[in-house]
Amino acid sequence: RVVGVLKELEESCETTVGRLRQVVDAMAVEMHAGLASEGGSKLKMLLTFVDNLPSGSEKGIFYALDLGGTNFRVLRVELGGQRSNVDPDVEQQPIPEQLMTGRSEDLFDFIASTLHRFVEKGNDSVQYSITKELGFTFSFPVKQTSVSSGVLIKWTKAFAIKDMVGKEVAGALQQALARKGLNMRVAVLVNDTVGTLALGHYHDADTVAAVIIGTGTNACYWERTDAIIKCQGLLTTSGGMVVNMEWGNFWSSHLPRTSYDIDLDAESPNPNDQGFEKMISGMYLGDIVRRVILRMSEESDIFGPVSSRLYVPFALRTPAMAAMHEDDSPELTEVARILQDVLDIPDVPLKARKLVVKICDVVTRRAARLAAAGIVGILKKIGRDGSGGIAGGRSRSDIKMRRTAVAVEGSLYTQYTMFREYLHEALHEILGEDIVRHVVINVTEDGSGTGAALLAASHSSSGSVQL
Ligand code: BG6
Ligand code: GLC
Repeated sequence: RVVGVLKELEESCETTVGRLRQVVDAMAVEMHAGLASEGGSKLKMLLTFVDNLPSGSEKGIFYALDLGGTNFRVLRVELGGQRSNVDPDVEQQPIPEQLMTGRSEDLFDFIASTLHRFVEKGNDSVQYSITKELGFTFSFPVKQTSVSSGVLIKWTKAFAIKDMVGKEVAGALQQALARKGLNMRVAVLVNDTVGTLALGHYHDADTVAAVIIGTGTNACYWERTDAIIKCQGLLTTSGGMVVNMEWGNFWSSHLPRTSYDIDLDAESPNPNDQGFEKMISGMYLGDIVRRVILRMSEESDIFGPVSSRLYVPFALRTPAMAAMHEDDSPELTEVARILQDVLDIPDVPLKARKLVVKICDVVTRRAARLAAAGIVGILKKIGRDGSGGIAGGRSRSDIKMRRTAVAVEGSLYTQYTMFREYLHEALHEILGEDIVRHVVINVTEDGSGTGAALLAASHSSSGSVQL
């Protein structure tokens, strides 16, 4: 019976190159639709008002807050006016769970207090007379009204603070800073993808897009303003603007969906939402695996009596799943330990441990390959996938591809080797050797927070000479 369940899982998670190419095309089509009209697609394609990326000439001390990933970060960056390695002071901590679902004032007070302590510990005085500029990375969908203001559209991932939806985000932070007596101005409010793009571009000027694959998943990229049809007349000096895709909400009938995905979605607080994210990101992968193990356990005795832990949503977190997947000991002792400690399933025979590794592999491979298809979808939209010449009658190998860099961040990509390898493998398969060698993936640690500080610098009220 378990063999049948595994086979069915493998079949419904199938991501042949042909299917991935269909996902690539669907992504590009939806990007066009989301740019054409408001509500034209499940892809929101949000304006960011970031129409210039940091140049390297920024100078001064800048702060940043980074909220929405596994950890909350506070950063201080000193910029010398020349492009160099930015080496921020960073402090990070997880957000207490009760703050993710409580009142917005409590969340923002927590953020402001952490920042207050951080500033006091450093050399800067809290009583400074010159207003400090702050970049705020807020990793949720925001309808921006300017580069420094915007309204929360909805929460995603594990956050659900009702009174915040529809509210001005930077304003809520600014008020909390005032309550703590901090003389700081929120100079930019950006999505984590946008911060990552800013830092990625700072280090590598060929960077055209940024992708986050962590607790959640999303991407942003540089778009020409004349392609943003829904905002006709939008003018920027650079002729372009960063667009936050919110690709977590992407959907296409070509996505390989299983009964486990359907159940996970139906039981989630946001059914029919964030469909792509629920197949790819760190918040959900472990839970898909838990559901498969539960079904196998119910339909056979391979895992002994059904453990009640298997019924607990999110009992198996993605880091534990990754540890099982990457267990290379001959007896799979780490798999046995995690099954026992986390899922309360003791004495699992080697055969069943191997089965668990296989389940993790199928689920992660699908996720990584879909993320790769998403990346190629962006490249296709902006004409960097090497296919442009085909319509013009040239063969793929004749095309002069420009070097194209994509900045990638997030714990799934940076901490989960198998995930990363599957993603790269799929990029090779979809693009082909001739094209893929022009595509560079750059990882930037703490990227989005540092990027937000850089953007705060380039958007600071006193230009680039704030000291
Ligand atoms: C970090 C960014 O590096 O990656 C965060 O600074 C982002 O803003 C995060 O949200 C995503 O990773 P994770 O895995 O912590 O969700
Ligand atoms: C979720 C958020 C999005 C964010 C992503 C990665 O998808 O909606 O804004 O960029 O997670 O953190």
